[in-house]
Amino acid sequence: MRDFNYYAPTQVVFGEHSEEQVADLVRKYGGHKVLVHYGGKSAIKSGLLDKICSLLKSGGLEMVQLGGVVPNPRLSKVHEGIELCRREGVDFLLAVGGGSVIDSLKAIAYGVPFDGEVWDIYTGKAEPETSLPVACVLTIPAAGSEMSDSSVITNEDGDYKIGYSNNLCRPKFAIMNPCRTFTLPPYQTAAGVTDIMMHTMERYFSHDNDMTLTDAVAEALLRTMKQCIFAVLKDPEDYRNRAQIMWGGSLAHNDLTGCGLQGDWATHQLEHELSGMFDVTHGAGLAAVWPAWARYVYKEDVSRFVQFAVNVMDVPNDFSDPEGTALRGIEAVENFYHAIGMPARIHELLGRDVTDEEIREMARKCSQDGAITVGSFKVLAREDMEAVYKLAR
Ligand code: NZQ
Ligand code: ZN
Repeated sequence: MRDFNYYAPTQVVFGEHSEEQVADLVRKYGGHKVLVHYGGKSAIKSGLLDKICSLLKSGGLEMVQLGGVVPNPRLSKVHEGIELCRREGVDFLLAVGGGSVIDSLKAIAYGVPFDGEVWDIYTGKAEPETSLPVACVLTIPAAGSEMSDSSVITNEDGDYKIGYSNNLCRPKFAIMNPCRTFTLPPYQTAAGVTDIMMHTMERYFSHDNDMTLTDAVAEALLRTMKQCIFAVLKDPEDYRNRAQIMWGGSLAHNDLTGCGLQGDWATHQLEHELSGMFDVTHGAGLAAVWPAWARYVYKEDVSRFVQFAVNVMDVPNDFSDPEGTALRGIEAVENFYHAIGMPARIHELLGRDVTDEEIREMARKCSQDGAITVGSFKVLAREDMEAVYKLAR
């Protein structure tokens, strides 16, 4: 078991009436003038944005608004937010939306007090010393950004999608009302659950396999998500199952399922190139890559894949054929993706074949021109990345 430092400082306020507390929470964490950041239209259409703004106003807080964050949030919107916050003297940042809005907000939080180009933080050229406080009203369970230390931004100049992690931007609070997720379309619901499960699977496929408590938490989370998704696809207003998914999204990415383990994260790195290049939904991109990654790496520790197949995917354990059991576990994941409307290959994701040239370009970017490797279950160099993309096509 590895030593670890578990830090999950976000106050989670969960439930049907959780939004009512928004003004008190902003004041509790020192906010006076708030940037309310949101996406395209869902928060406007549902009335959530109006509700949050009027609660802030009646709670005596000043505010400015900035909408228009798109999935795979763009650097240009971050620049706009930084300028607005500086001009208006904003001292607290509130996202009303999903991972894209929260991530855009986190980048703005670094950028406002930073004397330089915020993108340099994402490329590793600079380190922030401080940030403005951030918080969120979550509307889609998926990215886990509501409790995580990460944010992922796309620079339109070259389509570079890069993540950056720092405890500075862990949200002060996260308001989570499962009813707000009733309006999610089936594709976003399924992509969200795929991402949630992947945040746990990235940690689970590790060579540090003596942390049985962490394994048990991870397996329970994965099994629960696997069951709940079918219930909410059938009945989008199923509060009980929407609630489990919403809480699952936070637990999957607040490091709880990684305590004592070194995670892998290669699937995420490979996917970020797909969504950077093709602007696809992150969770669907993960589903298109994972089966190929799994087939490429499972021999590094067949027993880990057997444990996953049996304990998570309900594959009968054929003790005489561990490899067969491991492979049937991967097939079961592919069948699961198809059953919830996700792709299991890149051509299913894009609706066309990915070209050799595109594969080379994604591997070039992912490996930073061959300078870095990704993953730890099996360390992937540039040529391995190309091989995984080819298997996934
Ligand atoms: O823009 P609107 O109209 O709000 O529509 C959004 C968007 O089109 C819609 N939506 C959100 N809540 C809704 C809703 N539609 C109906 N009803 C609601 N209640 O859903 C679409 C997707 O939203 P987005 O915020 O992009 O989803 P998600 O939470 O999956 O975030 C994805 C982003 O997070 C990054 C991904 O790479 C991607 O850029 N990630 C961030 C991580 C982190 N910060 O820790 C980790 C993840 O691995 C991930 O990489
Ligand atoms: Zn993810």
